[in-house]
Amino acid sequence: MNKIGIYVHIPFCESKCIYCDFASSVCSKKVQEKYFESLIEEIKKCRYRRKVKSIYFGGGTPSSVDVNFIKKIYDTICEKFEIDVDAEVTIECNPNSATLDKLNEYKKMGFNRISFGVQSLHDDILKIIGRRHNSKQALQAIENARRVGFKNISADLLIGLPNQSIEDLIQDAAQLINSKVVHISAYILQVERNTPLELKIKNGEITLPTEDKTVEMYLSLVGFLVNKGYNRYEISNFCRDGCYSRHNLNYWKLGEYLGFGLAAHSYINYRRIANSCNMHDFLNRKNIFIEKIDSKKNIEEMIMLGLRCNLGVDIIRLSKAGYFINNNAYYKEFLKQGILLERENRFYLNPNYYGVSNKIICDLLP
Ligand SMILES: C[S@@+](CC[C@H](N)C(=O)[O-])C[C@H]1O[C@@H](n2cnc3c(N)ncnc32)[C@H](O)[C@@H]1O
Ligand code: SF4
Repeated sequence: MNKIGIYVHIPFCESKCIYCDFASSVCSKKVQEKYFESLIEEIKKCRYRRKVKSIYFGGGTPSSVDVNFIKKIYDTICEKFEIDVDAEVTIECNPNSATLDKLNEYKKMGFNRISFGVQSLHDDILKIIGRRHNSKQALQAIENARRVGFKNISADLLIGLPNQSIEDLIQDAAQLINSKVVHISAYILQVERNTPLELKIKNGEITLPTEDKTVEMYLSLVGFLVNKGYNRYEISNFCRDGCYSRHNLNYWKLGEYLGFGLAAHSYINYRRIANSCNMHDFLNRKNIFIEKIDSKKNIEEMIMLGLRCNLGVDIIRLSKAGYFINNNAYYKEFLKQGILLERENRFYLNPNYYGVSNKIICDLLP
């Protein structure tokens, strides 16, 4: 049986950032209590018995809730599943709520990786996008995590923020490198529908860098990080040697995982299972969406996920699933042009073409 990853969704935040459309909201302690009870039930009732190689507490903001809630969930998972002794166990934290005490508790519980939502180290920008922390707090939180014993520390940055210049972004990355984070995720800001950000752009209150400028920022960041010894192992993810996120890599390798909590997804036994995004439905175990992954969808996912990261796509696994990539009209041409690279029965996207990966992936699909 394949080992799996486990994702736990903590859908609570202290306030909403203007760009965010993740399943998260500001809730009372009473609602939180109800949620965690329900989450424990969901984990206990899970009928899949698999060994676990990674656990990821994401959100929302896991660090915003009482540490005892996190402990109860973690203990429930440990009672229910057999966890690898060297499993990667991550918790997402916001710099303002990840206090030294909490970080210490997480370490004692068994977490061995922290992912901080830094987003920017420019206070004026952080304020505009509605973050509750400033740059000093972000750097202090990273320092505190190291103090309590975390070595595997990651930080998220956003690209294309209001008033952000290339120099600002590179400065942020340089500071993160200085603070010795071993992993950086850098996402291009998406303007999601019905967010305050979308409204503010519409009424002229906020202007974002142009698309060309944002691409230039992304490429400058890639150059900078690669030059500093970080590997770009996925379009938005960079790490020191060996410090990739094992949990995320499992998603991209089309490995199996179980997701618990509001809006959480699972992929197991060729089925995708999605919990409802609505709190009332989740608490009542209603509106759970199940999709059977047929062979065509499986092939599509293998190509899409494999080309996003430096793992590439396994040609033999693909042919066993019924798709012969050599028969694709574009494949040979892409190899000839150096857009795709082929070695040891796998094909990869040349990292120089990550920016246009969507178009290439579409051409390669059955
Ligand atoms: C689900 S969020 C939760 C992390 C944590 N609550 C925080 O905000 O720092 C994970 C990451 O997604 C990224 N993200 C959130 N909204 C985004 C958006 N509209 N566009 C691009 N990236 C986004 C941010 O970098 C964030 O750190
Ligand atoms: S703290 Fe994170 S999850 Fe919460 S609103 Fe902000 S970006 Fe979204």
